[in-house]
Amino acid sequence: MGKTLVVYYSATGQTERVAKIAAEKLGADLFELQPATPYSEADFDWTDLESRVSKEHNDESLRDIDLVQETPENWDEYDTVLIGCPIWYGIFAWPVNRFMKINSFADKTVVPFCVSHSSPLGDSDKLLHEMTSSGDWKDGYRFAMDPSEEEIDSWLKGLGL
Ligand SMILES: Cc1cc2nc3c(=O)[nH]c(=O)nc-3n(C[C@H](O)[C@H](O)[C@H](O)COP(=O)(O)O)c2cc1C
Repeated sequence: MGKTLVVYYSATGQTERVAKIAAEKLGADLFELQPATPYSEADFDWTDLESRVSKEHNDESLRDIDLVQETPENWDEYDTVLIGCPIWYGIFAWPVNRFMKINSFADKTVVPFCVSHSSPLGDSDKLLHEMTSSGDWKDGYRFAMDPSEEEIDSWLKGLGL
C-alpha cells in the first residue's frame, strides 16, 4: 500500500477542517502550506485596492508566494497527494502555486479540492494541473463552507483511491 498525503493552505480554517477530516478518514499524513510572510487580517481586505491580496490579484507576478517549507518530508514515498485550498477571486488561492511548481508529481495520483463561499470550481483544477509537468490528475471537487462529514466521506469514496 502506498502512502497518501493531504496538502493544504487555509487562511481561515475552512480548508484545514476538510483536510484534517480527509486525512483522518484516509489514514493519510497532513502537510500545511505556510506563507513565509503570513497574511494579516488587513492583507485579506479585498475591498481595499492597496491591500496585499488586491495587489497580488492585480499583478500575477506577485503570486509566487515564498513558503516556510516547499517540499514535505519523505515526498518521494507518497503515491497519492490531495491538495486543497480556498477559492480567491474565482481561482485556487495562489499560496499553493510555489508548491505545485517546485515539486514533481511523477507517478503520483493528484486530487485537488477547494472550499469557497459561493464560487464554483471553475477552471481551478485545470490551472493547477498546468503548473505541474506530471501526475495522474483526478477531477477537482468544490466544497461550500462547513461541509458535512457525510459529504467529505462520499467525495473520498467516489475517488476510488
Ligand atoms: C482574498 C479572498 C478572496 C476570496 N474570493 C472568493 C471568491 O472569489 N469566491 C468565493 O466564493 N469566495 C471567496 N472567498 C471566500 C473563501 O473562498 C472562503 O471563505 C473559504 O471558505 C475560505 O477558506 P479557508 O478558511 O480555508 O481560508 C475569498 C476569500 C478571500 C480571503
